[in-house]
Amino acid sequence: MTIKEQPFKAVKITDRVYWVGAIDWTLRDFHGYATQRGSTYNAYLVLADKITLMDTVKKPYRDEMLSRIASVIDPSKIDYIVSHHAEMDHSGCLPEIIDIVRPEKVFASAMGVKALAQQFHHDKNIVAVKDGEQLSLGAMHLTFIETRMLHWPDSMMSYLAEEEMLISQDGFGMHLATTDLFTDQHDQSVIWWEAAKYYANILLPFSPLVLTLAERLGKLNLPVKYIATDHGPIWRGDGVGQVVAKYVEWATQKPTAKALVVFDTMWESTALMARAIAGGLAEAGATPRVLPLNGAHRSDVATEILDAGALIAGSSTMNNNVFPSLADVMTYLKGLKPRNLLGAAFGSYGWSGEAVGHLQTMLTEMKVAIAAEPVKVQYVPTRDDLMKCRALGMQVGEALGKAAKG
Ligand code: FEO
Repeated sequence: MTIKEQPFKAVKITDRVYWVGAIDWTLRDFHGYATQRGSTYNAYLVLADKITLMDTVKKPYRDEMLSRIASVIDPSKIDYIVSHHAEMDHSGCLPEIIDIVRPEKVFASAMGVKALAQQFHHDKNIVAVKDGEQLSLGAMHLTFIETRMLHWPDSMMSYLAEEEMLISQDGFGMHLATTDLFTDQHDQSVIWWEAAKYYANILLPFSPLVLTLAERLGKLNLPVKYIATDHGPIWRGDGVGQVVAKYVEWATQKPTAKALVVFDTMWESTALMARAIAGGLAEAGATPRVLPLNGAHRSDVATEILDAGALIAGSSTMNNNVFPSLADVMTYLKGLKPRNLLGAAFGSYGWSGEAVGHLQTMLTEMKVAIAAEPVKVQYVPTRDDLMKCRALGMQVGEALGKAAKG
């Protein structure tokens, strides 16, 4: 089957810009992030005097992208390729595409040039562009905006002035496989959950840089009609301002009344404690969100933490340690560097009871402010033990109320 015979077509965004990416309907794990709704790898074709391909796709999707391009133009007519980010979901087929298309020039940030060389050990000539540099495509113009560590050292965005389009790479994206190209064509609860999930799992550690970027975009005061991301649907109209405002909110992580109770249990004692803690939180005016780790994926816990003010972690002791599920989630959360959290630890044990101490250490290492003494129960909690759990919940809840007001 030739490229042209494949059943993939480009989708028009404007008269001069087409979406030519690929849809990954079956992706369920993105390096440890659960992607229940699949994803897209977006690439954009700009029909300027210099025909420009903005990004490529994951390697197995090369022909899908080529087929979409071929539905508009002969791929060999592409003059320029811009690689905004070297991670392989966007650059995996870049060396092959360069060989097939033979463009006049390929552009990346200086760190991108380096990362592409170190990943692909290729022999291609890739031109490094600088922050703020303008590239003429003839009657259209691109301006490059370096966004180092959002979320890789090489990451950059670009602004296509004539279409008022920000090609934002991973920024403002989401893992959502779809043929509906714009966010406003979707159920908004899905859009905002997936956008928050993407922020929490990919961008949260770099929140201070997100705030710097938002400030910079504000100062540049560029008119933006579209934010064309490299994953999921495109923001347009009111969605543009809304997603930028949400990014500022998520990056700021102001304390809220929501408290996560994250735990795992062996014989239900720690689960009973979690229920009593949730009761205490509610009594103090907080909003408990109880997440048993036998049913919550680490990337969903990360999403829940984005608008939470407290993290209360519980585990039974297993082989002198925390449950493996707690070790997994706490290690993952620590790497994401959530901010402004209060917390506490709890758990049951049979004879040695180290888990609660380990959790307390993990919380402290995550810079969670301990708001209540830990509660540790041998075997099955008594009524008194459960009252102590309720008191722990109330104490955290009251501290949360004060933090949210402050
Ligand atoms: Fe979508 Fe950082 O790659």
